[in-house]
Amino acid sequence: MTGFRLSVGTARILPRRATASVYKDAGRRGNHVSAPPRATLVSRDVSASGPSRQPREARPAAGSRRVRTPAKVNLHLAVGARRPDGYHELMTVFHAIDLIDTVTVAPSTALEVTVTGEGTAAVPRDRRNLAWRAAALLAQRYDREAAVHVHLDKAIPVAAGLAGGSADAAATLVACAALWNLPVGQDVLLDCAAELGSDVAFALAGGTAVGTGRGETLRPIATGSRLWWVLAFARGGLSTPAVYAELDRSRPAAKPLAWPTELLDALRRGDVAAIGAALHNDLQPAAAGLDPSLLATLEAGRHLGAVAGLVSGSGPTCAFLCPDAAAAAVLADALGATEVCRATRVACGPAPGASVI
Ligand code: C5P
Repeated sequence: MTGFRLSVGTARILPRRATASVYKDAGRRGNHVSAPPRATLVSRDVSASGPSRQPREARPAAGSRRVRTPAKVNLHLAVGARRPDGYHELMTVFHAIDLIDTVTVAPSTALEVTVTGEGTAAVPRDRRNLAWRAAALLAQRYDREAAVHVHLDKAIPVAAGLAGGSADAAATLVACAALWNLPVGQDVLLDCAAELGSDVAFALAGGTAVGTGRGETLRPIATGSRLWWVLAFARGGLSTPAVYAELDRSRPAAKPLAWPTELLDALRRGDVAAIGAALHNDLQPAAAGLDPSLLATLEAGRHLGAVAGLVSGSGPTCAFLCPDAAAAAVLADALGATEVCRATRVACGPAPGASVI
C-alpha cells in the first residue's frame, strides 16, 4: 500500500518497481523515493493519565479481517487560498507515525460501528464516523450490501490533528475489500479515499509524502533516518473547519505555496537539527488563537530539550522532534509530569500505511 502517486481527477497508482523513473521530477528536486520501513515499530505510553495499551497480537476471529493504520503529523503545512469548494490549497509534508489504530471487520446483518480505546466516548458510531462512510461507500461502488461490523480499537485521539478518523476510514476500506474479496485496485481505493476526506489517501499510503491539492495528491518522499517524536495530547479537541476559518479570519491573504525544498533536503539527509529548523505549520497560530494553552505546551517541550516542536495539523496535539529514542523517552516523562498536556506518547516515523495483519 506504499509507493504510489495519485493525481487529482485521474487517480492512479504506479507500480512500485516503476518508481525510479516515475518520480523523476521528484528526483530533479533532489528527492529520492523509497517505501517506508515495514519493520515493527514501537510506541510507548508514558503518561500516568493516558490509556494503557495492551499489545494487540491476537489473531482476528475466523471470517474477520484486521488492519493496522497510522496517525500522521504534518512536518510542513502551508495553507493557500480558500477554493470555491470550501477547501484550501495545501502544500504539506505528511509523515506517518506508529501511533496505531486497529480496525477489525466481520460479517454482520447490517452496518454497525463499535469503538474501544482512546477517546471512545467522543467517537460517533453512525454515518458521522468516517469508517462507517468508508464501508458504505465501498459497498455502494461494488453494488453490495454493507452488512459489516466495523470495530475500531483506537490509540489515536479524536479531533487531535493526527488524522485518526481518516486513518480509520483508510483501514476500513482495506479491511472491507479483503473481507468481501473484492477485485479492488489501489486506484479504486484511492478514489474512495479522496471522496471520503483530504487525509485518507495518505493513511493508505503511509511513509512520508508531499501532499498537494487539498491534501489528496501525494508524492512519496525518502527520509534518511527514522524520526523520534513525543506527542503531547491536549485535554480538549479542536474542530478542523474552525481552525481553517480562524486562519482565514486572521490573515489578510494567503501567500503563494512554495515547494518545501529545505525540509525535503534535510529529510533526505536525515539531519534532525535541520529537519527541526524547517518544521512549519501555517495553522499553528490559528490553533493557538483558539486554544492559547498550546503556546505553553510548545514552550515547555522546547524548554525540556526537544529539537523543535509544532502543532500537528489543525491541532491541538503538539509534536516534538527528538534526537533519538532515549531522548524521546526522557522528554515524554518530563513533559508528562507537567500540567501542560493530558498525556504524552513516544512515536516513531515513518510508519507504513494501512496494512492487513
Ligand atoms: O477533508 P476533510 O473532511 O478531512 O476536511 C475537514 C475540513 O477541514 C473541511 O471541511 C475544511 O473545512 C477543512 N479543510 C480545508 N482545506 C483542506 C483540508 C481540510 O479547508 N485542504
